[in-house]
Amino acid sequence: MKFFIDTANLQQIKEAQDLGVLDGVTTNPSLMAKEGITGKENIINHYKAICDIVEGDVSAEVIATDYESIIKEGEALAKLNDKIVVKAPMIKDGIKAIKYFSSNGIKTNCTLVFSSGQALLAAKAGATYVSPFIGRLDDISTDGLSLIEDIRLIYDNYGYETQILAASIRHVIHIIECAKIGADVMTGPLSAILGLLKHPLTDSGLAQFLADHAKASGK
Ligand code: G3P
Repeated sequence: MKFFIDTANLQQIKEAQDLGVLDGVTTNPSLMAKEGITGKENIINHYKAICDIVEGDVSAEVIATDYESIIKEGEALAKLNDKIVVKAPMIKDGIKAIKYFSSNGIKTNCTLVFSSGQALLAAKAGATYVSPFIGRLDDISTDGLSLIEDIRLIYDNYGYETQILAASIRHVIHIIECAKIGADVMTGPLSAILGLLKHPLTDSGLAQFLADHAKASGK
């Protein structure tokens, strides 16, 4: 499973990259705003800075919601760097734009996906990635992980090449369950990625090993 980090924070992206397990980055307008990145030029420069840090795909979301404007904005984003994946929303014009981009060699991420029907449509349009939002489904007392299972089944039935990018990941269990189901990618916060390191028996075991070594060495 590929690991993407879901942030526009350059320090966190660097930290994940330094760990050596990062395969890409996803951003969205809220994450960019959280970092105080506003204005066309700053936004463009920020995407360039992210591309300079990571080796894999970098999702950059369009703000436009009508077909012509999505195409214009997406083409400009795609020209920034080969790593850029144009992220477009699951709306009628978004799907039409994804079809255009996929027919013209531009990578896409269909975002704001909350049903298997939407995911089927994204695959039909040729999206490179589809982003079902697990955490936000859990937030409204539905089962986000069962959506990942349904999409996996549907895509495998027909051999769709669209990659399931499990998004809105909140914690370690989400990552593990997505890996068991067979999501192609997960995108989550740095805290969830680093959370995979943790187990109390690792901490107590290491403390014991070091204490035994010190005792045997007469320290
Ligand atoms: O980037 C899309 C998705 O991962 C958002 O996650 O935590 O805002 O629901 P969240």
